[in-house]
Amino acid sequence: MASMRGFVETPDYLVDLMVNRLFHDRRPSASDTLLDPGCGTGAFILGVLRWCDREGVHPPEIHGVDLDPEKLAAAKTLINGHGAVHLIERDFLLASESRYEYVIGNPPYVSISHLSENEKRSYRSAYRTARGRFDLYFLFFEEAIRQLKPSGRMVFVTPEKYLYVESARELRKLLASLDVEEIELVSEDAFAGRVTYPAVTSLVKRPTSRQTRFSNRTGELRELRFLTNGNPLLHQMNGGGEEQKDAPRLDEVCLRISAGVATGADSIFVKSSASLDRSLRLDAYPTVSGRQLSNAGEELRTSDVLLTPYDQTGSLRPLEELGALGEYLSQEEVRARLLLRSCVKRKPWYAFHETPPMRDILQPKILCKDISPAPRFWLDTQGSIVPRHTVYYLVPKPGVDIHQLAEHLSSEESCEWLARNCQRAANGFVRLQSSVLKRMPISDELVRQAAELDLWRVRDPSSTPYEQSNSAVLIGVI
Ligand SMILES: C[S@@+](CC[C@H](N)C(=O)[O-])C[C@H]1O[C@@H](n2cnc3c(N)ncnc32)[C@H](O)[C@@H]1O
Repeated sequence: MASMRGFVETPDYLVDLMVNRLFHDRRPSASDTLLDPGCGTGAFILGVLRWCDREGVHPPEIHGVDLDPEKLAAAKTLINGHGAVHLIERDFLLASESRYEYVIGNPPYVSISHLSENEKRSYRSAYRTARGRFDLYFLFFEEAIRQLKPSGRMVFVTPEKYLYVESARELRKLLASLDVEEIELVSEDAFAGRVTYPAVTSLVKRPTSRQTRFSNRTGELRELRFLTNGNPLLHQMNGGGEEQKDAPRLDEVCLRISAGVATGADSIFVKSSASLDRSLRLDAYPTVSGRQLSNAGEELRTSDVLLTPYDQTGSLRPLEELGALGEYLSQEEVRARLLLRSCVKRKPWYAFHETPPMRDILQPKILCKDISPAPRFWLDTQGSIVPRHTVYYLVPKPGVDIHQLAEHLSSEESCEWLARNCQRAANGFVRLQSSVLKRMPISDELVRQAAELDLWRVRDPSSTPYEQSNSAVLIGVI
């Protein structure tokens, strides 16, 4: 429902921090104007009024814009007829000629997959930041900057992702032309129950040669520079300089670097092999979760299995061909649980949340956990394990030596690179995302192998002689 789009209320402590930043070196006056785009129930408007009250200054003229009439009605009640406030029901992303000294807010975070084809088309033609898999908050940034007067200041809280995702390159280019004063990564649980990795960005609409003050969640301070080519800032955020271009990357020697299987109902599909009915064994693959990897030593063992209604090529098998598994899944309470998943609107009720690429999954591969204190990798040389969604897996291209790849990944050099380039969780743990793993530099030995191999040839898994060696790091099923 468009009117409910992206609603998340900002907690008062964060509002107050942002309002302080907005007015820190220039107090507002009654003749100034201030915009809160996507004002919702008015958290920032109330924060601005609170600040002005406390400081004994007359509030600026405040415009709160939102397209949700119910949120605006709630805001109206809370603001209680304050003369300086105007609540306006409209789509902020439709052009407006208004100009403001101040902008503050928490724009909606709505990924492109929730936009209609019409919306995508019209945003793409109106906004330079509507590129690739954009998010609505990129557009709010662009429009708010447009509506700022020269030398006006803006403070936004958004997901931090715009600092490094490829789809936000245009937004970073735009920011490179402005004085981005400060970026603070705030606590992951700032927004109750939502993990958005929030960042508070303060900028002034003027050119500058100054760098951006940056603080991460562990309180370390750095200086960043938005680059005119829009290059991602993750490397700088983690203390490195600008990244070396064109170095051979991990995805050039891997067939696949992906998160494991998301069933949407692990309680139904994941079972302990000990308690598994014999008749279900045929469709059960050994499986591991991220949690199991965290607790594992050198040698990983699992007794869990994933009941899989897919064949080895990744096609969903017809229910009537599933035999005992079909009967299990069709039990009333099991089926009801599966029907609760959002994905069943677009696919058969007994399918996994995401279609598992079984052909690739069932290959010798390397596994790692999505979030961990330091990067660690395990080998599955048999290719028998089906990793779940909190585990990433890397399948080497045919001919690439999996042991050499594992050795490279576990090297000190790689660990340092990952520590510099991965996003951090609040507790300082590294988040090993596939986008980062893919652009990891590879060792000279792997570069040499890649050069020797014809890596573009079409792969035929049945003819590939997969090594069944007894590696030092073994994954097995009890
Ligand atoms: C993340 S919420 C933030 C609400 C409020 N600013 C706060 O911090 O508590 C984003 C708000 O943007 C509104 N919104 C979404 N798309 C919009 C659009 N195109 N124009 C105006 N408001 C929009 C939603 O209705 C929602 O109230």
